[in-house]
Formats: sequence, C-alpha cells, structure tokens
Amino acid sequence: MYICICKGITEKMLLDQIRPSHNSQEQILKNLGIGDSCGSCVVDAVKKILENQNNLDSKTKKSDS
Ligand code: FES
Repeated sequence: MYICICKGITEKMLLDQIRPSHNSQEQILKNLGIGDSCGSCVVDAVKKILENQNNLDSKTKKSDS
C-alpha cells in the first residue's frame, strides 16, 4: 500500500525506517521525501510512524523487564 503516491513510498518503506534507535518523525519523512510534493500524505504518514514507534516501545519495555 502506498503512503505517498507522489514519491512512490510504500508502507513497508516507511516501516523499515522505524527503529529502536528512534529516528524522529521529521527525519523519517525527510529521509524518504514524504510530503515534498502535494503534502496530502503527511498526516497519515506521521500517524503510521507514531503507531509503530509506540508498538516498538512497548515491545522493547516488555523485553527489558
Ligand atoms: S502524496 Fe506524498 S507528497 Fe503527495
């Protein structure tokens, strides 16, 4: 599924950028060029990043305890 049609960025490409080392949302968007054209994808892309960073955080915390 495409997250950013203008740049041809798929959900998988976005999720591959999310790591425990925490790239910031802005950095991930910048790395992929998401929002550089029409910008209509930015809100959904940020939501997706936040959801997956939160999931990653809870998995990391569970494995730490
Ligand atoms: S859909 Fe992402 S910049 Fe247009």
